Amino acid sequence: AAMSGATLARERRELRQQEAEAAEQESKVDLSSQWHDPMANPDSRQFASDLRNSKANAAKADGVPEWRRAIVPKDQSFGKRTNLSMKEQRESLPVFAFRDQLIKAVKDNQVLIVVGETGSGKTTQLTQYLDEAGFSNDGMIGCTQPRRVAAMSVAKRVAEEVGCELGQEVGYTIRFEDKTSPSTRIKYMTDGMLEREILIDPDVRRYSVIMLDEAHERTISTGMTALTSRSDILFALLKKTLKRRPDLRVIVTSATLDADKFSEYFNQCPIFTIPGRTFPVEILYSREPESDYLDAALVTIMQIHLTEPSGDILLFLTGQEEIDTSCEILYERMKALGPNVPELMICPIYSSLPTEVQSRVFEPAPPGARKVVIATNIAETSITIDGIYYVVDPGFVKQNTYDPKLGMDSLVVVPISQAQANQRAGRAGRTGPGKCFRLYTEAAYNSELLPTTPPDIQRQNLAHVILMLKAMGINDLLHFDFMDPPPTNTMLEALETLYALSALDDEGLLTRLGRKMADFPMDPSLSKVLIASVDMGCSEEMLTIVAMVSLPNIFYRPKEKQQQADQKKAKFNDPHGDHTTFLNVYNAWKQSGYSSPWCFENFIQYRSMKRAKDVRDQLLKIMQRYRHPIVSCGRDTTKVRQALCSGFFRNAARKDPQEGYKTLVEGTPVYLHPSSALFGKQAEWVIYSELVLTVKEYMHFTTSIEPKWLVEAAPTFFKVAPTDKLSKRKKAERIQPLYNKFATEDDWRLSAQRRGGRG
Ligand code: CDP
Ligand code: MG
Repeated sequence: AAMSGATLARERRELRQQEAEAAEQESKVDLSSQWHDPMANPDSRQFASDLRNSKANAAKADGVPEWRRAIVPKDQSFGKRTNLSMKEQRESLPVFAFRDQLIKAVKDNQVLIVVGETGSGKTTQLTQYLDEAGFSNDGMIGCTQPRRVAAMSVAKRVAEEVGCELGQEVGYTIRFEDKTSPSTRIKYMTDGMLEREILIDPDVRRYSVIMLDEAHERTISTGMTALTSRSDILFALLKKTLKRRPDLRVIVTSATLDADKFSEYFNQCPIFTIPGRTFPVEILYSREPESDYLDAALVTIMQIHLTEPSGDILLFLTGQEEIDTSCEILYERMKALGPNVPELMICPIYSSLPTEVQSRVFEPAPPGARKVVIATNIAETSITIDGIYYVVDPGFVKQNTYDPKLGMDSLVVVPISQAQANQRAGRAGRTGPGKCFRLYTEAAYNSELLPTTPPDIQRQNLAHVILMLKAMGINDLLHFDFMDPPPTNTMLEALETLYALSALDDEGLLTRLGRKMADFPMDPSLSKVLIASVDMGCSEEMLTIVAMVSLPNIFYRPKEKQQQADQKKAKFNDPHGDHTTFLNVYNAWKQSGYSSPWCFENFIQYRSMKRAKDVRDQLLKIMQRYRHPIVSCGRDTTKVRQALCSGFFRNAARKDPQEGYKTLVEGTPVYLHPSSALFGKQAEWVIYSELVLTVKEYMHFTTSIEPKWLVEAAPTFFKVAPTDKLSKRKKAERIQPLYNKFATEDDWRLSAQRRGGRG
């Protein structure tokens, strides 16, 4: 029951995500706002291609589209941000009144938690105070940021305040970029960079103070797929370091009320609260759920701009594409209104934006104009923009999530938590009383949003996290000092999984294979499959398949056109199953030159395909970095199916004479999904990537196999049953999973603890 509860929750999450994606998808094509069904209205299709052409033309001049050119300053002539001098600005921040108390508190305590509203000056000022107080004479003052952009932009700001060149006394380090020098005293960096430094020097002797900034924001992503919950692990590693280095100081800052938990984790260390300065924010909800949050957001912005008193607007969207699209649409809509409406200064902000465009969000709008900042959740806490009176909150965020369906950590669009919603609203009340427009109903806020975002480590694929920790040499996981320890059972399950995959040996130690698997930021089953595919000579194909199964929905099946969509899909169906069908889809798309019209014609989600390509490219880089050869098996995909068995042998099922299938391991009845390429076929033995519970337990992504492949893939997991009394055919087929070869759970726990005690 617990299992199906979890599956249900997952289903619901998936559904929401699909809805969110569908909304996103819709809004992407709905550039004319009169066009809802692209197939139904040929004129609008015309419009779409016009738009594409006009985009192409506009981009021709200098490779930059018109809207982008219009909003990017040619020179930095946007004027002075404020009339206050740098010193006056610094002294006007709430944290300034506590400067001396803070310095003393850091001197007196090895660990200090600092809580304060976003914008109170924690990130930019604390480091400078400590520098001024002489801490940096004994080592650098390091400050970690959950995001690359924040690390860069804050370092830039602080260098300005200090009056030095960026990279000299004040610098930053992010992946692939080190802007520091021997004279650097204040260094901003991402969590991941500090983690690497700790791995190299566990005592971090280069630092006198380490500030773990934005501790509440315990998520880190590295591009498309996300690695593991870095800061949770960082916390635990630093806690160990503190024991060995009594002179080291650690500051943990948070904008929210997790402070008690952090304090408890760091042995009841003191909490320093900086009183905030905030104004009331009026919250307005949508009356009805919005079917297209992007369009609703843009309409709201126009309404605010045309009817509300002056004050800048902040809109939260989930990612770069959405933000760019919105900027473009807003730009076009403003242009269409002509010169008689006040100017709207459109400022996008997301991580991959060039720095000069980023810094523009901090510039005030010219007199008479209004600024609208369109941001990812980076503007929730990581950066503070002054002058915001209106917040528009569609209620979604792209989050680093372990999705069991994808079998992979990835960035997916999910609803925000209530805490996040309130944090977003609060952004409108920093300069004066503000308004927050929530593009969801009050009922949705109350009943659908979780109170807080679950800590990363519990959201993630534990098997992968454990593999990472093992690869870092941390063996005693049952006693590892997690701040939010995952449930022991879940941990044992994950250990068992890793053992079955041969990533751990029977002592619980990392194997060579496990070491290789840890290089891949995804579910160990998938990394195993990838590594196996190298030996089997089909890594070219497997890269594609692994990337494709990491996507929520590739096929587009609108209600009115299901038949048409199914016909199109049938063309790709491979007789051996869904994984090879994905391969067919991807290869056909590649053949089309990764074309978007091709996707449109074939009822395939272009966005998903693009994402698949991104993931594939990323995985390819990892394969190359670790010198795993990329080899193709050509047309005969038998090897591919064999390689799949090496990761998914636990998900094997056999056709049941009555109906459906039965899993080999537990004998539970499972069913082929009607969308499977194997549906209606007579595959006797299959493996699947995942189970999804809707009306029945459906196998998702199913491929037919030969039973002997299972034994070859996992000889310690399966054994062939005694054969003397069986017919020849049965002999060849009969396999019994050696499920009881494992110690029972209690035995395992005991032996794991014994092992832990030794390590
Ligand atoms: O860390 P916390 O949210 O407490 O505040 P902060 O990031 O130190 O920001 C303090 C002030 O510095 C903000 O009100 C901004 O006006 C300014 N700031 C800036 O101008 N440019 C940045 N990149 C960061 C902060
Ligand atoms: Mg900050």
